[in-house]
This record gives sequence, C-alpha cells and structure tokens, in this order.
Amino acid sequence: MKAYRAALLRFADDDTPVYDADGLLVVGPDAQGRRVVRAAGDHATLIGNYPGVAVEDLRGKLIAPGFVDMHVHYPQTDVIGAPAAGLLPWLENYTFPHESRFYEPAHAREVADFFLDELARQGVTTALTFATSHPASVDAVFEAARSRGLRFITGKVLQDRHSPDGVRDETEQSLIDTEALIQRWHGVDRLGYAITPRFAPTSTPAQLRGAGVLATKYPDVWIQSHVAENRDEVRWAAELFPDARSYLGVYGDFGLLRERAVYAHCLHLDTTDRELMASTGTVAAVSPTSNLFLGSGFFDYMAADAAGMRYGLASDVGGGTSFSPFHTMLAAYCVGREGQTKTGLSLTPGQLWWQHTAGAARALGLEGVVGNLQPGHEADFVVLDPQATPLLARKTSQANSLDELLFALIVLGDDRVVERTVVAGG
Ligand code: GUN
Ligand code: ZN
Repeated sequence: MKAYRAALLRFADDDTPVYDADGLLVVGPDAQGRRVVRAAGDHATLIGNYPGVAVEDLRGKLIAPGFVDMHVHYPQTDVIGAPAAGLLPWLENYTFPHESRFYEPAHAREVADFFLDELARQGVTTALTFATSHPASVDAVFEAARSRGLRFITGKVLQDRHSPDGVRDETEQSLIDTEALIQRWHGVDRLGYAITPRFAPTSTPAQLRGAGVLATKYPDVWIQSHVAENRDEVRWAAELFPDARSYLGVYGDFGLLRERAVYAHCLHLDTTDRELMASTGTVAAVSPTSNLFLGSGFFDYMAADAAGMRYGLASDVGGGTSFSPFHTMLAAYCVGREGQTKTGLSLTPGQLWWQHTAGAARALGLEGVVGNLQPGHEADFVVLDPQATPLLARKTSQANSLDELLFALIVLGDDRVVERTVVAGG
C-alpha cells in the first residue's frame, strides 16, 4: 500500500465535488490484485488507520481523478490545426490522406506512442479513441496502451463507401476483421473494443447491418460513431437513408443505439432523437473545441438535460484543437453559455470537471471503475500544481471557495498544471 497527502478532489454519489484541503489518498491491491483506491478523505481522520504505510507528502498540490476523454482520434494527432471550410472538406483534404498511412504497423506504433505520451502529459488516463480502417492501427495502439497499463478503448473504423482508396475497406472483410479484433483484444487486461462505423454516410447499409449484428452478439463491447455534427453532413445522411426518421434514426434502424454506444457531437438533433438516446442508453461525446474549430455548431445542454440524455466531454482531436482537458472544459463552459442565455444559468466548475471524469466514466458504462477517487476505483489520478504559472499562483491563492479554485484551473490551466499522471497506482 501507498498513501499520498495533498488536497484531494473526488465526486459524491449525487455528482457534486467533494474536497479535502488536507486529504489522504490510500492506494493498494484489491482482492483481485488490481491497484485501487483503498481510502480517500481527510488526512487527520484517516491517517491513524494506516500505521506503517509510506505517505508521500504532496501538500500544496491537488490530487484529482485522471481525466476521461470520451472521443478522440489517435491517427489524427498530426491533423490537429488543419484549416478547412467545414467537416466534409476537412475529411477529404487532410484526414483521409493522413489516415491512409496507418496500414503500416511501424507508423501506427510511432503515432500511438506519441499520442499516449501526450494523453499522459495532459492528465488523461482513459480514452475512447478511433483507430483507422486498418486492423494494424488497432493492434498498434492496443499494444502501446497495454504496455502502459491503461484502461483504454478503441476499434477499427468501418467505412466501405464514399471514402478514397487507402482508407476504404471492404464490407465482408471489415466485419470479419472487427470480430477477430474483438476476440483478440476485448477484456484483455484493462482494454476494451469499440465497434466503429465512421459515420452513416461512409458505410453501406450492409456494413451497418453487420455492425449491428456484432453489437448484439457482443453486448459489452462499445460502439462509437459520429452523428449530427454538421448541416451538410446531416443533409447527406438524409439523401442516403431516405427511409430513416432522422440521421440518428439510421443508427437505430441498424441496432446501433444501446448502452455503451457513444456518438460524437449530437448537435443537430430534435427532441425525438434526444429521447431516443435517453431511452436506449446511448450517450453523447460533447466535443466543444472541435465544434468551434470546424464551425459545426453548439451542443444544447438544456435540451439534453430535458430529455435525460447522458453525455460527457471529449477532445475530438484532430477536429478538436487541444488534448488538454482544461481547454475542453473551458470551451464547454463557453458553449454552455450560448444555450443558456435565456435562464442566465451556466455550467459550474464542478459540473464541467465531473463531465470530464466521473460523468464521462458513467456515460461510458465505467461508473465505479475509473473517473473518481472513491474507494474501489482503479487508482488512475493526476497530481496538479495550482501554482504552475505566476498567474495561476496569484489567482488560486485568492480563491475563496472550491468553485473559485476549480474555475481558476479550468480557465488558466493546461499541461503545465499536470505535474504527474499516475496509472493503476503507479
Ligand atoms: N465524421 C466522420 N469522420 C469524422 C472525423 O474524423 N472527425 C469528425 N470530427 N467528424 C467526423
Ligand atoms: Zn471524431
């Protein structure tokens, strides 16, 4: 066992933040040998229960749950910051050419290693990421994640039409490859597989049908895709699937809406769509830096809450402009204000932080596993330095409440704040 003394942030069952100014986090093996949180709370109250346990003194720092990125594309690490008129030209001119190189295992592994190092530098300990259509891209990132001990989810992209040579796959083979990858990787150590149709316009009905069959056969495997990000894309989906009630409805028609199904964006939905997401347990990966960068639109938090939809935060790199959860939380705050000018409400710092940790974990079906530092959770956490820059030191020293402290970090923070990222108790 090992313990850490620092300020400590975690979340209560009602999703509100719990803060110990002088906290103790105790990490050790559980009955299965996994390194988990054994105790978390006030130092003075807990310390007597752990005689002889080594305590690392990190007073002045803040220990918080590792961040959970609900939607990111590891093969788009080098696409970040590519300008385009909108989603569809961005895909054609930048994304597909970059992704076409991932048939090569050595290239895939080099990018995967850089990507996972970057996630760690930014404080992200779990991600649901797209690979590319090449099975080698999945093996490369799973191998890299496994060697780091990460809880990590990815899958081979399915895209058998409206895609250029080099990224387009073949219907039957793509489904055979997907099932083989599920059997090779899902449930190995902390890894999970996601069935990954890119988005409805780049899959034939036969490929979506096959994906739905696999989603039923393997109910604890994830599903990830994109929906209703951009108006041109929504129009295109309607032309291609004239019988569907809506773009989201296409996925429903093929059995791709269920628990553990994660759809990026969800901007241009209607009330029926949102209710369908809620009733099927399908969740949204809200990607505000991407939506602002590609001019896609604004996630409607109030409508999502009214429908009872679950959601959490995501970087969506390379459409997104930053791997930093702090940048994503700040962008979400700004987007939240857009929808909430009528009521004057906005997202609180605690809500934003929850959406990128415990809330994201819940949306992924990993509640109680990651995203929080309550006893029993896997010990993935970050050590943050509230004094990382002169301005942060000045601002956080004036914080009179937890909200003010968290908000200073959200608005001014980035990778400089992340002093250490600990995976599975280190
Ligand atoms: N829709 C289909 N593919 C993509 C992608 O790679 N990024 C984003 N942001 N949207 C998509
Ligand atoms: Zn995406």
